[in-house]
Amino acid sequence: MATAEQLKSLIRSKFSKDSERFFTIALQVAAHEARQGHKGLAHDIRDIIDAERKKKGPKLVSFPKNLQGLVLTEDPSVPLSAMVTTQAVRERLQRVVHEYRQQEKLKSHGLKHRRKIMLIGPPGTGKTMSGMVLAKELHLQLHTIQVDRLVTKFMGETSAKLRQIFDLIQQEHGVYLFDEFDAIGGDRSLDNEVGEMRRVLNAFLQFIEQDTSDSLIIAATNNPKLLDRALFRRFDDVLYYKNPETEERKALIANVLGTFMATRFGWKQVLKISEGLSHAEIDHACRDAIKNAILTDRNKISAKQLLVTLHERQETHKGARG
Ligand SMILES: Nc1ncnc2c1ncn2[C@@H]1O[C@H](COP(=O)(O)OP(=O)(O)OP(=O)(O)O)[C@@H](O)[C@H]1O
Ligand SMILES: [Mg+2]
Repeated sequence: MATAEQLKSLIRSKFSKDSERFFTIALQVAAHEARQGHKGLAHDIRDIIDAERKKKGPKLVSFPKNLQGLVLTEDPSVPLSAMVTTQAVRERLQRVVHEYRQQEKLKSHGLKHRRKIMLIGPPGTGKTMSGMVLAKELHLQLHTIQVDRLVTKFMGETSAKLRQIFDLIQQEHGVYLFDEFDAIGGDRSLDNEVGEMRRVLNAFLQFIEQDTSDSLIIAATNNPKLLDRALFRRFDDVLYYKNPETEERKALIANVLGTFMATRFGWKQVLKISEGLSHAEIDHACRDAIKNAILTDRNKISAKQLLVTLHERQETHKGARG
């Protein structure tokens, strides 16, 4: 049976007319029941919620006109299970989801769930993907703000735009991903004589500190050195991503190749040559191998065939690094 707190929250959310909140709490009840061993009931509750959501259709968010094109909204479709990552990152992502789902419980003890998250790591290791995963797991829409574009397009007006975005965060409950965040996180090369970037960064710090919304705010960057120390303090959690180690590479390749993978697959060379490549690059090489297979009417890919496309990725990788 749902806890007294859950029942009260459920009733309160019904009258607050915040249907997303209602869904969230109903999902908490389902999770609670599942933990009590009432799997059937948990399943039924989830089915009811999914059916209602489908009926409602995607919610149309009415962004102010001048933000259109700057904030990209989508219904995410990537589940956590599609991500290959370290146990540490997985647990941190799961904790964000767990605390979000249990926010009422935390609130009743005067605590807040972690919802301002910074993701740091080299290109192609799953930072943007994590934004999608979190939105998907929380059944929320994903709003992506391409920070580098915001800065180059609105130089001089960036702080004003940021204020509008934070107003939106307050009004429209969702996951907000500030992608390519290093564009304001402190790249001094963009900081022309007027110290504009410093002002933009200060504005961001102020907005994120004042934010009391229920939205999840994520900032992703691949340049930790450029980030200001003051920023770290404003985030509830910092997650570090890195290129995949042996076991992760193995899992990723097996995931992407799926049924295309030859039964007897020689891992040794594959794992060796894929070393130093990012998840995105390995994903790319696997998809290239699948394309080759399809175009030559084969339904299996051997390690040797994957080596060809992995090798190609390594060359591109070296080329990009100069
Ligand atoms: N950890 C991962 N597990 C599975 N696939 C991944 C992972 N990381 C990246 N990929 C694949 O690579 C694509 C690109 O990754 P993503 O955009 O998340 O990288 P990123 O860390 O945001 O890179 P950048 O710093 O360049 O923005 C993903 O859409 C996915 O297909
Ligand atoms: Mg990215």
